[in-house]
Amino acid sequence: MSSSYETVALPRLSQNAQDEQSLALATKFRELRLKSLQTDPKAFGSSYEVEISRGLDQSIDRLSNPKAVVFVAIDTSNTSHLSPAGNELDRLLRVPWVGMVGLLGPQEGNSEHVSAKQDPYARMTASDDDSGRSDNKNDSETSDELPWHYVLNGTYVSNEARGHGLGRRLVSAAIDRAHDDARAGRRNLICTVLVDDDNPRARTTYERCGFDYDGEEEYLQQPRKVLGETEPKLSTAVRMRLKRKM
Ligand SMILES: CC(C)(COP(=O)(O)OP(=O)(O)OC[C@H]1O[C@@H](n2cnc3c(N)ncnc32)[C@H](O)[C@@H]1OP(=O)(O)O)[C@@H](O)C(=O)NCCC(=O)NCCS
Repeated sequence: MSSSYETVALPRLSQNAQDEQSLALATKFRELRLKSLQTDPKAFGSSYEVEISRGLDQSIDRLSNPKAVVFVAIDTSNTSHLSPAGNELDRLLRVPWVGMVGLLGPQEGNSEHVSAKQDPYARMTASDDDSGRSDNKNDSETSDELPWHYVLNGTYVSNEARGHGLGRRLVSAAIDRAHDDARAGRRNLICTVLVDDDNPRARTTYERCGFDYDGEEEYLQQPRKVLGETEPKLSTAVRMRLKRKM
């Protein structure tokens, strides 16, 4: 059977969610995230060892972060035998997930603050929610204001699903959401992603979606046991940036 894929934004969980469906969703997200860190350890600033030690709470935190949306790619090619799903969450829990990307933002300010030395989720908390998504300022007030800044994080497509354009579809879905949000707030958009300098496939994916090279920085990457590392390793992260007018 040929594969059929969809990209879907995960519903945001309530903070400290403990109901069965929320836990199942967080578990599924965690499994794919850990798989990405295991199969492609060089691609990410974090490591399998660090994230498995943090448990499910970290996944619930990420999925309930008011400034984060996670998009997943789902494989819907083998769902005909399933009884009709009750709701979207049911459906999400029934189908295989084969890719994901996190969209973090908005923040006002300068993209130079995006650094491989920081956990991008830790930058985005409820307390810095000063972006005024629902502001009612008029055009003359907003035109010179700072753009809204977003960060992409954790882009991943599982090996068996690569080469079908899913990386591009996930990244495009995240950019479109950010652009819609920024337009609604009457702001220009800047979106940044950090990529390992030795990851041509990811760099091409972002370039095809409109990102350009915007500099690079060295940082100490956490040791990845799966690669036999015991000490942090000096790595280079390339910063890529996309700008869109409101
Ligand atoms: C990067 C990744 C998400 C891309 O997913 P994908 O579904 O294979 O991507 P796509 O099919 O949309 O292909 C994206 C582009 O990369 C190109 N590409 C494929 N392999 C390539 C390579 N080795 N070098 C350069 N470009 C390559 C494709 O041709 C395509 O460009 P095109 O549309 O002009 O043909 C996926 O490979 C992945 O998960 N890699 C491991 C994790 C990772 O690196 N994440 C990024 C963290 S910043």
